[in-house]
Amino acid sequence: MNNQNWVWWKHGVFYHIYPQSYCDSNSDGIGDINGIIRKLDYLSELGITAIWLSPIYESPMHDCGYDVSDYKKIDPVFGPLDDFKCLLKQAHERRIRVVMDLVMNHTSHFHSWFVESRSSRDNPKRDWYIWKEGLNGRKPNNWRSAYGKRAWEYDELTGQYYLHTFFTEMPDLNWRNKDMRKAFFSEVRFWLDLGVDGFRLDVINLIVKDKKFRNNPLYFGIPWIQKHLYTRNRPKSLKITWQLRKLLDEYDDRMSVGEIYALPPGNPATVADYLGSGDNSIHLAFDFSLIFQPWSAKRYHNCLKKWYSHIPENGWACNVLSNHDLSRSISRFGRSRHHLEKSKVLAVLLLTIKGTPFIYYGEEIGMTNGRLKKNQIVDPLGKRFWPFFKGRDRARTPMQWSPAINAGFSIHTPWLPVNEDYLELNVKVESRNPDSILNLYRSLIFLRNDEVILQSGDWVPVINGEKGILAYSRVLGKEQILVLLNFRNRTMKIPVPFPVNGYVLISTHRWGGSRLKPVEDIIFPYEATVLRMNT
Ligand code: NOJ
Repeated sequence: MNNQNWVWWKHGVFYHIYPQSYCDSNSDGIGDINGIIRKLDYLSELGITAIWLSPIYESPMHDCGYDVSDYKKIDPVFGPLDDFKCLLKQAHERRIRVVMDLVMNHTSHFHSWFVESRSSRDNPKRDWYIWKEGLNGRKPNNWRSAYGKRAWEYDELTGQYYLHTFFTEMPDLNWRNKDMRKAFFSEVRFWLDLGVDGFRLDVINLIVKDKKFRNNPLYFGIPWIQKHLYTRNRPKSLKITWQLRKLLDEYDDRMSVGEIYALPPGNPATVADYLGSGDNSIHLAFDFSLIFQPWSAKRYHNCLKKWYSHIPENGWACNVLSNHDLSRSISRFGRSRHHLEKSKVLAVLLLTIKGTPFIYYGEEIGMTNGRLKKNQIVDPLGKRFWPFFKGRDRARTPMQWSPAINAGFSIHTPWLPVNEDYLELNVKVESRNPDSILNLYRSLIFLRNDEVILQSGDWVPVINGEKGILAYSRVLGKEQILVLLNFRNRTMKIPVPFPVNGYVLISTHRWGGSRLKPVEDIIFPYEATVLRMNT
């Protein structure tokens, strides 16, 4: 591919930063923008094309920043706007793009729009949020919030209910209101004008609700297990993504990636709907199917096949193994003796399959879930559902930079405790170890950045998970790269249905440049090998 055909959000590698937990530059125990700036060289040496930052807007932090009180301001905990401008400049100098999070479904209840909206029934901004009369002294309908309770909150001042799909402190915006849309898009322009390269769109499929406020159907007659027919995936939300696309297209080379909130998670058909025809809607959309697979080569194969089959002709896939809401990828399979081996298999998978890879911070060093005590929990979901669900903090613990105090994240006690394994799992120690996960990630990212075939070649299944082996080729013209992944702790003959005539590019078990013997060769337990095939 010549440079002209290289599209950063298709062919590059994304890295998701949870700003509170990345690097604390002002020693208050919370990560900040200057901390991220300090780590740009690390990201550049890792070969990262773009960073996505979870929200850094002004926020009372009820939901760790997903409750925005002013879209044009940076929260002081992360630093002033000038720091953000500096981040943009320094990132761009290193050819790293910066993608912000955009929370469109709701604001904080402290946002001035909501303060005005709730002040009286005839306030000009009343209709910017979703207000409704009660029904015979009860809530307007049966809608439930995604976080457990009823989705309506009574407001005594004006005697009406407002809708909140998540926490009570996060009222839903009314995307059917033209003035609100205009105001919101003008906030988006503010960041685009500043040079932001794109947005990750929070729960983009939830932003529009049924106009008639019909009750959601219940599963088994149980009120809290409802089918979100009238609260999710409304056709109008697609129209809004088209409008957003038009706005982004007014600028040079910007992008969007949507979070599609689906239950059960992993719904490639719905996710693909948001890609539109591939060039009229959002650029990328997350399908969480891979995240929710058990450790099974067959299941991974089926899931990839299904995902790719839904991508529109002009559309583009993206892939992710974990994020700030879910378990660390490697902890999903238990803390077995083999969790490091498994994380290497996953690394090779993520960086050799088709679609833009998104790496969650710390994944590249094999970070595991934190083990928090009740009094250490910050996430309101963890507080609400303890001990049945301990919340999302476990995947948000401080980045492990070194074996120094607090893993080199801060000299102050961090806002969440550092994981116990930081003495072995950290950037400094792993950098020196040629066999570390970090060095594997580095090599894989550089390979992907070098090999057009890995960026845009077709994905052709070779072994569909039989006997725990997943093998696929990436094919572009006459070129072929073969990937062999052994999901089991067992040595086996390689059951590839054709002679493996090629040499190793990257492997967890073999030297680079070595060749496999076509007939009698074996695959080692948890081996992950990438080979260039001779053509
Ligand atoms: C999805 C975000 O990823 C999550 O962290 C947040 O709580 C909800 N959206 C509400 O914004």
